[in-house]
Amino acid sequence: MDSTILSSNRSRRLVLLPLPLQGHINPMLQLANILHSKGFSITILHTHFNAPNPTNYPHFSFLPISDASQEKHSVSDIGNVISFLHYLNNNYLNPIQHCLSKLMLEDEGVVCSLITDAQWFATQSIADELKIPRIVLRTSSISSFISFVAFPLLRDMGYFRHFSDEEMKSEALVVGLEPLKIKDLPKFVTSDPKAICELLDLMVQGTKQAQAIIWNTFKELEEINLLTLSHVFPKPHFLIGPFHKYSPTSLSSLLAQDQTSIPWLDKHPPNSVLYVSFGSLARVDETQFLEIAWGLANSKQPFLWVVRPGSIHGSEWLEQLPDGFLERIVEGRGYIVKWAPQQEVLAHPATGGFFTHNGWNSTLESICEGVPMICSPCFGDQPPNARYVSDVWKIGVQLENGLERSEIESAIKRVMVDREGMEMRDRSINLKTKAELCFKKDGSSYASLDDLVNYIQSF
Ligand code: UDX
Repeated sequence: MDSTILSSNRSRRLVLLPLPLQGHINPMLQLANILHSKGFSITILHTHFNAPNPTNYPHFSFLPISDASQEKHSVSDIGNVISFLHYLNNNYLNPIQHCLSKLMLEDEGVVCSLITDAQWFATQSIADELKIPRIVLRTSSISSFISFVAFPLLRDMGYFRHFSDEEMKSEALVVGLEPLKIKDLPKFVTSDPKAICELLDLMVQGTKQAQAIIWNTFKELEEINLLTLSHVFPKPHFLIGPFHKYSPTSLSSLLAQDQTSIPWLDKHPPNSVLYVSFGSLARVDETQFLEIAWGLANSKQPFLWVVRPGSIHGSEWLEQLPDGFLERIVEGRGYIVKWAPQQEVLAHPATGGFFTHNGWNSTLESICEGVPMICSPCFGDQPPNARYVSDVWKIGVQLENGLERSEIESAIKRVMVDREGMEMRDRSINLKTKAELCFKKDGSSYASLDDLVNYIQSF
């Protein structure tokens, strides 16, 4: 970029407010790096809880939101994401407004925009009060967001009120949201339908109020759904992803990434290892954990498995594994770590498949490395993501009956061994190429980023 434009942008400050969860912090800090590379000054406004490490970002300013009550939270508290999101939006508005007004009084440059995660749905009132434009970062896919937008309508059609738990597992397509099936609607709806609908309403309304939306996706992947969404949300949409291709996720990792994963992968032939990870929030019970373990063992394929401490109900870490699992039962074909350098693992030539929960970051990271997936979605946006992976992009298979050892074993064979898996890999590599092209000059994300920069400069 022209150096005069860079230095004139430097006097424009963007304040970015990430949601303090790993899957949201990563894309927000990646976005911050992208916008910094375009010359903007960056301030990260953050909670003390799950705070990013400022030493990894010496080029940004960090502004902690001061609020004593935040100390109440620890990572294990977020079991109930719904109440956590309500808590943030109810308790942090005043402290956020206070920090921002102070920054605006002190700052030499102009705060020209507030960029918030969409889950900070109540922050539009702050932007209005302080008269700064608010842009929303949506960290999910457009495809899954469309299902959230449809929630009130689905509720009015009786989807959640009148359907039993059994009916919510139905294979029937949801009218208007094809290819999603009833079972792909976010699973948490059955636990407290009223609270979920209310939260999604607030999030959708909060997104609608923003001036524009930034998406961590790319046009070639989600063009049809973008058209659908633009009818409901007629406002600027900037599809500038995949963000992690600009800067690595490792910088914003809240857990230490076990680097021994890479030399272990080095010992394996191309496309031979299955990588297994369910992100930063998903948890399984003991039975499901053992089903995964036996599915992996029975498949006879090498695997690198991330078992996050605390991710198995009732266990610290690996206590529930059968005795001698790694040495005797899988005979050295498996390696288990607490947290992996995921992007490097997926980019490693030995990695041939990804057994995933389909969080959007994981899904995109897999697409960008041409790695086919075994999908086992847990909650939220994950079921719609998984359906697009298996039925639309056709780059993975889905465990349609939950975590069950024989289905896991057969899915691993389909992806890692069978011809079907090779065809999925070919389609995945095709998408990877498209993702690479979108960053090149005149590529879709390249052009959209230019548009975003011009848009912010117009404020
Ligand atoms: C959450 C939600 O669960 C998800 O559905 C939503 O799309 C984003 O927020 P999370 O469950 O953590 O995210 O999953 P995901 O979106 O995949 O993000 C996980 C991130 O952690 C990825 O960037 C991944 O690279 C990183 N990661 C994961 C590691 O660095 N090491 C690991 O071992 C596992």
